[in-house]
Order: sequence, then C-alpha cells, then structure tokens
Amino acid sequence: MGRWWPSRLLLGLLCAVVSAGLVGRTDGGVTSSFVRKPAKAVDMPIDSDVFRVPPGYNAPQQVHITQGNHDGSAMIISWVTEEEEPGSSKVLYGTDRDQLDLNSEGKYTRYKFYNYTSGYIHHCTLRHLKHDTKYYYAVGIGHTIRKFWFTTPPEVGPDVPYTFGLIGDLGQSHDSNVTLTHYESNPKAQTVLFVGDLSYADKYPNHDNVRWDTWGRFVERSTAYHPWIWTAGNHEIDFAPEIGETVPFKPFSHRYHVPYRSSGSTAPFWYSVKRASAYIIVLASYSAYDKYTPQYQWLEAELAKVNRSETPWLIVLMHSPWYNSYNYHYMEGESMRVMFEPWFVKNKVDVVFAGHVHAYERSHRVSNIAYDIANGKCKPVPDESAPVYITIGDGGNVEGLANNMTEPQPNYSAFRESSFGHAIFEIKNRTHAYYTWHRNQDGNAVAADSMWFYNRSVRDLSECSSCSI
Ligand SMILES: [Fe+2]
Repeated sequence: MGRWWPSRLLLGLLCAVVSAGLVGRTDGGVTSSFVRKPAKAVDMPIDSDVFRVPPGYNAPQQVHITQGNHDGSAMIISWVTEEEEPGSSKVLYGTDRDQLDLNSEGKYTRYKFYNYTSGYIHHCTLRHLKHDTKYYYAVGIGHTIRKFWFTTPPEVGPDVPYTFGLIGDLGQSHDSNVTLTHYESNPKAQTVLFVGDLSYADKYPNHDNVRWDTWGRFVERSTAYHPWIWTAGNHEIDFAPEIGETVPFKPFSHRYHVPYRSSGSTAPFWYSVKRASAYIIVLASYSAYDKYTPQYQWLEAELAKVNRSETPWLIVLMHSPWYNSYNYHYMEGESMRVMFEPWFVKNKVDVVFAGHVHAYERSHRVSNIAYDIANGKCKPVPDESAPVYITIGDGGNVEGLANNMTEPQPNYSAFRESSFGHAIFEIKNRTHAYYTWHRNQDGNAVAADSMWFYNRSVRDLSECSSCSI
C-alpha cells in the first residue's frame, strides 16, 4: 500500500503535466498550445495566377458586391476597367441565367494617388430586389461581358436563419490565399463580415496602389458572389503627407462603396444594415467618436432604433479591439471602449467582432464601466449584459502573426490562439446562434474554438439554468 499510492500520485501528477501541455490554463481562460510552424508571411508575387487580369478588351475586373440599402433589398455592384475608355457602367440582371431582362445604370469614378492613376471604378446599385432569390448579373456591356450571380437575403425577421463568415486583416500573402480558400470551402457561409485592413498596399513604397488592384482581383472569386460588409481599418487610411497625399481613406472610399446614407450616417466609415435576423452596426476606429462628433451622435440615435423583436441579433464590427490580451496594439481600442461600452451593455449587444491584432481571441462576457474618477473600480467584471468580444484579425497578411501574449492570461480572455483562420457565426433562430473559429491548418469541419450564443434580448436567462453565456 505504502509503495502503491506514491506511484499513483506520480502518475496523476504526470497526467496533470501532460494535460497542461495540451492547453495552457491560467487564471483567465485558455491559451491554446497549438504551435504553428514559424514562417514569414510573404505577399504573393505580382505575376501570381490569383492576380491575373481577366481576358478580353477592357474586361471588368475586381468585381465585388455589398448590401445596397438598409433591409437587404438592394445590392451595390462594383468593378474596375483599366483601358483608356471607361466602358459601360450598366449592369444587366435577372433571375433567369439566360435572360437578364433588368438593367440598372451606374456611375464611375477614378482617383490619383501620388504617381498612380486608378482605372475606372464603376458602382451600380440594383434596387427593389426580391428577397431570398438568386440573381444573375452581367457587367462589361459593349465589349467584354462577364457574368456572376448572388443570392439576396431572406426578408428581415426574428427567426430567419443566416450564416455569416468573419474575416479580418486579409492582405494578399500566401497565407491570405489559404484563408480565403478555407472560408470558401465552408458551404454554410452566405455573407462576409469583414473587420478591416484589406490590401495592405500601404506597405509598399508610395503606397503602391497597384496592390489595391491586385487585391481586388485576388478576392473577386468570393466578393463577386458573396456580399462583403466592409469595415475600415488603419491600412485603409492611406494618409501620406510626405508624398502629398493628405486625404484619408482615398483609395478605400473610391473603391468600396457602402450604403451608409440608408442608415442616416453622414460618412461611409460608420453605418448599419439589417440582414435576416441580424442588425449589424459598423463603427470607425479611425474617425472621431468623442462626444458631439458625427459618429457619436449617429450611434446614440442608431442604438435607439434597433428593434430586437424584428432583429434579435445585434452585431457590431470595428477594427481596433477593446478587449485584447496580445502585446500588439494593446489598449489601442481603449478610448473608444470608454466612450461606447456603457451603451453596448445597456443595449445587450450580442457580439463585437474586431481585427487589427493578427491572431485570434474570444472574451468572456465582461464589462468595465463602473469607473468614475474617484471610485477606483477599473477592472473588467463578469457581466451577462455585455457582448462577447472576438478578435479575428487573423486573415494572414504580410505583417505576420501576433504571437506575443500578455501573461498571465487576463480573466476577461476566454480563448486565444496565434494562428491564421476565419470564423462562422451561424444564426439558427431568435434565441440560438452557433459560433466557430477555424484555423487554417484544419479542414472546414474542424472548429478550434466554438460557442453557443443564447440571445439575451429575447430570452429570460432566469428560466434557463443550464444555459451558459
Ligand atoms: Fe489594423
């Protein structure tokens, strides 16, 4: 007996050590021990096949679509033509692949950035679309026609299932290509919520805007078919006074139109859309948000407009995260958190997706809103009314992975891992949504992190003793 128990104890200790090696548990949550092979993120060369210009005279390229009004019955179709003449800005469309009997006339714009002149950037809004309908559309009328399709969202309603993909900080490296392919392999995804930092063209000398064009061609295989809901990140600012470029967001705002006016916004960097059972608010980390500013006033009025019996799921997108335990961009989102967090808690925002940090992290439901200048209560605390904060800036851009974390893992952090990937937010009905995160090294059926969301705006949690939040 005397010799038996120490060996059992040793075995137990050994098991504990081995399991601790599988996942690093600290006072906070879980730091995944999945170790990614160190490799430098490298942009795909300019002659890569994913950047190929489509054949044909003045063929439309960089085709992308996004929601065109507040309720999803319109779609903005955008593309670029690069020859000397603009070509047509018209879109032919219809529900029969062989009979595009509807048409809409768009407009084009172009811009100069230092020594670069853009092609003709066309934007055309298709309105009065039927919900939950597959439309075929053609661009490039007159010379080289290219055809694509999209499916409109179901009519807005509280129990409408819908599945969003989440991608952030994508860039155009070999890893970016893996992330996009991984996302595309998920058959459930219907629309991308993109949390900012698109092309990383500003990493090139003079912000070489040719890399905006290559990025547009790279992502076309998804953006021409799935609407991407755009958020502006810091790599969209393109503020370069040293080369005379002093208008922030010039390339981004010429190329990526969003339906900001339909939600009463006065600038394309903060706006909202309703899609199925979700109300999506996009915020601008790099536009003013202090009291009295246009964004502040808009958000204050906007939150009051959200009708949770119509759209029970309230999702916020922003670029710079409020809860981030990596040693990258640490506390950069702090000033916006101070301004808006009480509103998010009061309105029971379900989830906040952010990017910026090139890794993955999910928080517990916490808030840090008790502080005033005298009480010293400056610590995140568990709060059932608070959102879950998810950092999904792990698209795989040229800047590489953020792999240096604060230690120990803070209490607010539920799960973190330094890998590239994407996420899926699958709304089932008004009460349930299933969230999964997919690292690039796995197949799309593998969820490296997951969570059931129970909607707190429509469900009385006191009736549900087994529900975790
Ligand atoms: Fe960023």
